[in-house]
Amino acid sequence: MRPFVYHNPTRLYFGAEQLQNLTKEADKLGKNVLLVYGGGSIKRSGLYDEVLKTLAEAGCTVTELAGVEPNPRLSTVHRGAQLCRAHNVDWVLAVGGGSTLDCGKAIVASARYEGNFWDIVSRKVVVKEALPLGTILTLAATGSEMNSGSVITNEETEEKWGWGSPLTFPRFSILDPKYTATAPKDHTVYGMVDMMSHVLEQYFHHDALTPVQDGFCESVMRAVVETAPKLIEDLDNLEHRGTILYSGTMALNGVLAMGALGDWANHSMEHAVSAVYDIPHGGGLAILFPNWMTYVLDDNVGRFKQFAVGVFGVNPEGKSDRETAEEGIRRLREFWNSIGAPSRLSDYNIDDSRLEDMAEKAVPGETIGNFRKLTKEDVLAIYRLSL
Ligand code: NZQ
Ligand code: ZN
Repeated sequence: MRPFVYHNPTRLYFGAEQLQNLTKEADKLGKNVLLVYGGGSIKRSGLYDEVLKTLAEAGCTVTELAGVEPNPRLSTVHRGAQLCRAHNVDWVLAVGGGSTLDCGKAIVASARYEGNFWDIVSRKVVVKEALPLGTILTLAATGSEMNSGSVITNEETEEKWGWGSPLTFPRFSILDPKYTATAPKDHTVYGMVDMMSHVLEQYFHHDALTPVQDGFCESVMRAVVETAPKLIEDLDNLEHRGTILYSGTMALNGVLAMGALGDWANHSMEHAVSAVYDIPHGGGLAILFPNWMTYVLDDNVGRFKQFAVGVFGVNPEGKSDRETAEEGIRRLREFWNSIGAPSRLSDYNIDDSRLEDMAEKAVPGETIGNFRKLTKEDVLAIYRLSL
């Protein structure tokens, strides 16, 4: 196990009726709020009205930024920051999926930085100050509700990068499974693929003796594997929604990352695909991850065997370690396909015309990833396997 520091300052309100805590959080953070949301799902579900009513009762004045795109854009961040400055906003409340939350994080930092926010995403400038952020999550997927990360797309340069700062952890996040129950099947599935991918990125490492972390990771993945088929047959089921919501948060709030060096190459590869083709993040991961696994399998067959046995219950008796490991990869691919996730880039009409371009974007330096350090050529090979 490696040395580590763990600190997570987000106050999590999880479960039914937790929206009532918005009033006391608003009392702490100030009266001038910027409400950030996406393309309208919160209006259709009624959550928008509930939030406005609660903020009014707390005596808040609300400015709104609507229309945050899936794969949120730099120009939208700048619009939000502008609103914060123009209306003297005290804090930002982001209500929606990961895209809206990520945009909220970018806005709270951008509001306190006069230059182009891309300076921060591209790590030319470090965040020194940020407004407080609160969130209400409506889609179980990214873990953004309890981490400091955010992923922003520069639509002009077709780049999509994650960035983060200790100042951009949400001060609080409200998670009521009820607010995720209106998520349609496709985004519910993408979310489940995304949270499993977060666990996989942290699980595939070469550090020895991490039995507690391994158990946590396998437990989260097994919970998703067991719950996903039931949830997609019964999208209104709040017990299943709750299990998936909790899984998504635990998958990327830092707990699973303690003491080991995760990989994260699949996220870099996927961000390059969605930067160019604007596809859903979870859909891209469902396509790439099994191909990455096949590509790097021989670097640590034992780890893949452990995955097969620990997550999918593959019986290793009578099989070589490699056969067991391969069965685990096949089971993951089949599982994602069975719940409706795509398996080929061609499912999104992506052909080979921009693969080199995407590989350039995915690998800005020499290599990406830690389980195996992938060069541009490796990434290109994985994209080709994924066509
Ligand atoms: O925009 P609205 O109308 O709200 O609709 C959204 C959107 O169309 C809809 N939706 C969300 N909750 C709903 C709902 N529709 C009905 N009922 C609900 N309850 O779902 C669509 C997708 O939403 P989005 O926020 O884009 O999805 P997700 O949560 O998967 O976020 C994806 C973004 O997060 C980034 C991804 O790259 C992508 O840009 N990531 C952020 C991470 C982080 N901050 O830690 C880590 C991840 O690996 C990921 O890269
Ligand atoms: Zn992800």
